[in-house]
Amino acid sequence: MSLHSIPRAIRLLALLFLFSRNSSEMTVAAIRFGDRAKGDAAFGAEDRPECSGRWIYIRELPTRFNADLLATCDEFPILFELREQQEKSLLSFLANHGLGPRTHNRSRSWYRTDPLFMELHFHRRMLEYSCLTTEPAAADAVFLPYYAALDALPYLYSPAHWNNSALHGRDFVEWLLSGDRPEIWARRAGHDHFLAMAGSAWDFDNDPAQFPLWGTAFLGLPELYNVTALTLESRAWPLQEHAVPPPTSFHPATVARLDAWLSRARRSRRPFLMLYAGGAAPTGGKLNIASSIRAECELRPDLCDLVDCSEGICAHDPARYMRPMLRARFCLQPPGETPTRRSTFDSILAGCIPVFFEEASAATQFGWHIPRSRYDDFSVLIPKEDVVFGGRRIVDVLEAIAPARVRRMREAVLELAPAVMYRRHGSSGALRSRKDAFDLAVEGVLQRIRRRVRAMEQGKNPLLLVGQDDDEEVDDA
Ligand SMILES: *[C@@H]1O[C@H](CO)[C@@H](O)[C@H](O)[C@H]1NC(C)=O
Ligand SMILES: *[C@@H]1O[C@H](CO)[C@@H](O)[C@H](O)[C@H]1NC(C)=O
Ligand SMILES: *[C@@H]1O[C@H](CO)[C@@H](O)[C@H](O)[C@H]1NC(C)=O
Repeated sequence: MSLHSIPRAIRLLALLFLFSRNSSEMTVAAIRFGDRAKGDAAFGAEDRPECSGRWIYIRELPTRFNADLLATCDEFPILFELREQQEKSLLSFLANHGLGPRTHNRSRSWYRTDPLFMELHFHRRMLEYSCLTTEPAAADAVFLPYYAALDALPYLYSPAHWNNSALHGRDFVEWLLSGDRPEIWARRAGHDHFLAMAGSAWDFDNDPAQFPLWGTAFLGLPELYNVTALTLESRAWPLQEHAVPPPTSFHPATVARLDAWLSRARRSRRPFLMLYAGGAAPTGGKLNIASSIRAECELRPDLCDLVDCSEGICAHDPARYMRPMLRARFCLQPPGETPTRRSTFDSILAGCIPVFFEEASAATQFGWHIPRSRYDDFSVLIPKEDVVFGGRRIVDVLEAIAPARVRRMREAVLELAPAVMYRRHGSSGALRSRKDAFDLAVEGVLQRIRRRVRAMEQGKNPLLLVGQDDDEEVDDA
């Protein structure tokens, strides 16, 4: 290894050391950096027409609602067991403001990203948002840097807290409505507030009256009905939440690196018709779509590449599935425990055409990032009942698609890729001018809040707009 790589390695080690010693300090430093950015951005607000309707105020929270939670996220051994996680600590994944450590010393754009730290990363990206204001009364939206999914860890992974899961977030909402500056909430009854949650809305959807088995009742807190929550998956009938893509492992910092990857994916030779990356076959021989896929793949190893991700080995090791995804034309995305899979977004980055087996897998979710009308252009839908009970073979369906159409679909997939990846914080100015998953999420939030506020101003109940999401509307403001 060349000498010049050493200082960076030492810096990385120092960073990890800091995180493991006192992770709150790092974030507190980041928050101070953010204060400065806010001051700069607010300066001369009047002559920033590009920020009109887009000003965001970041609510300053007591550290128990964010930074302190980073220091205690490692206290739940059940989490490692349930995830079959190889590493018995999460702390290393806090590096790079939640993107995790780089995959290799010489890697520039690939990280061992754990989606659980999406809240930390979203906060970091918010701090470099170009239209921050220090003046809540001037803000079009209020961002709450509350790490709600991290705060839920005890209720999910600590048996002593299972019975109390209805408490998740109570302390937070109490502070929010009556803490140091209740007028910030009162101005629009919370309709202009939003937060990001590193989890599926299903996990925060318990009925507090029921004996809780899994999850918390966070989204059911009446105080939160008016707040918009960005989650990694939404419920079948979303209320406060809107789904945003889970972070993948690809976080380029320059246009050149993004384009280099996309052209690699475009040029890649793809000898396999299809690929399935997933955990071990379910025991007990239960008939389901994952077991049907496995059976087909085992029958046709010439057409299907099966990537074994059992025992959590793929979770923090993108090379295991990204390389194979570059060599396959179609990537099979059966629903897992929940309908969506992060793997869908990996396959989009790899130019591997996603094959869905139920509509909820993506088409009813990520509307701000992938317009519903475009699914036919870039993906294939094979209803799982046809495969599991109807004897329909996936191989037959995919082989029947003409090569020219496959090429067009792949091109459509790669066109989507920049919009579903999260670029690295501190990226080059040129890359910042292209909208990534974060930018589109913020744009979606602002548009949703704008409609609510307009309804309030017209004397209508803004909650009537819940559920009619503005997925494809061109903003008319
Ligand atoms: C990365 O660099 C460090 C320090 O130079 C070295 O000890 C380590 O083995 C390297 N890791 C890889 C995967 O090359
Ligand atoms: C949780 O509540 C159930 C039902 O009331 C009870 O049987 C169980 O012992 C409680 N568990 C703990 C850890 O308190
Ligand atoms: C939520 O919004 C409704 C309608 O604007 C309002 O009546 C209610 O008080 C708000 N809830 C909270 C907790 O502020």
